[in-house]
Amino acid sequence: MAVLEGRLVAEKIQEEIRLEIERLKSERGVVPGLAVIMAGDDPASRSYVSSKSRLAEKLGIRSELVKFSAGVTAAEIARVIAERNADPQTHAILVQMPLPRPIDPWQVIDCIDPEKDVDAFHPYNQGLILQNRGRIFPCTPLGILRILDHYSIDPAGMNAVVVGRSFLVGKPMAAMLTNRHATVALCHSRTQGLPAILREAGLVVAALGKPGFITVDMVKPGAVLVDVGIHHIEKEADFEKFCPRSLHDAFKKKGSVITGDIHFQAFAKAAHYTPVPGGVGPLTVTMLMHNTVELCKRAISMANDKR
Ligand SMILES: NC(=O)c1ccc[n+]([C@@H]2O[C@H](COP(=O)([O-])OP(=O)(O)OC[C@H]3O[C@@H](n4cnc5c(N)ncnc54)[C@H](OP(=O)(O)O)[C@@H]3O)[C@@H](O)[C@H]2O)c1
Repeated sequence: MAVLEGRLVAEKIQEEIRLEIERLKSERGVVPGLAVIMAGDDPASRSYVSSKSRLAEKLGIRSELVKFSAGVTAAEIARVIAERNADPQTHAILVQMPLPRPIDPWQVIDCIDPEKDVDAFHPYNQGLILQNRGRIFPCTPLGILRILDHYSIDPAGMNAVVVGRSFLVGKPMAAMLTNRHATVALCHSRTQGLPAILREAGLVVAALGKPGFITVDMVKPGAVLVDVGIHHIEKEADFEKFCPRSLHDAFKKKGSVITGDIHFQAFAKAAHYTPVPGGVGPLTVTMLMHNTVELCKRAISMANDKR
């Protein structure tokens, strides 16, 4: 079993992005600009937003954070999006999910100019992906493909099972793997006989949000396991259920550890697997920066075409 070191892949891509940004600055006089919109005070969202802003700054992206209270309306968020849509220095707009209830996320996402839609959540961009002519791709599935490519794991012809059908991860992942010639089963909470489906899979992408859900008996020997789940384990009983003994000292010291949707014992049966932490997570935030630069380059080339 070999570990797919997402952190190392992410560092390599970040260096490429940093050089590309330097080139854009020196040759074009353009600094890629990212606007992050956040509503409410969800601690997980706060931590994601701050890690995105930190990485943007480190790589040389101009990032701006627009914060709303939990009581904001969709119309107020839409107004800010409209301003950033019209601002030539903003190349990418991100709305941190989840939005506070009762805001309908689609009402907000639909307002983002598809040319500034850094998460590729807009229906236009998701439609292009389905038609295999995507230009910008959701960060987590894009990062997963970059990990597979880095390790020369070609999904073509593989039986792939994606567990979870969110528009952030599962659905675009299934479409992108299909575009890469895998045979894909997209599974969800109503799927019947999931363990048997998983046992046929050469490639598993677990994005269902349940710690340790995919257990060793559900895995085909020699499979590639990609674990998207992120869970903070804080209770001793959960630690006993989901984590290896070797992490116990760290758990006691820090009071928590992070684990994924795939039970650690399943990894021993795999040919390759992504660890949690240090697997998919570092790629997700890195691909956000990659997408920001892609959108900036598209904006430059569209402005040139108009001249
Ligand atoms: N590593 C990263 O960078 C990264 C990025 C994004 C998300 N995440 C993590 O990935 C996980 C999934 O996130 P998400 O936003 O995609 O999830 P989500 O919107 O909560 O969707 C969960 C999906 O899993 C399915 N599901 C739930 N229980 C299931 C079960 N028992 N069997 C089969 N399918 C089941 C649900 O089915 P239904 O549709 O039928 O309800 C749904 O489609 C979370 O832990 C999240 O924190 C990590």
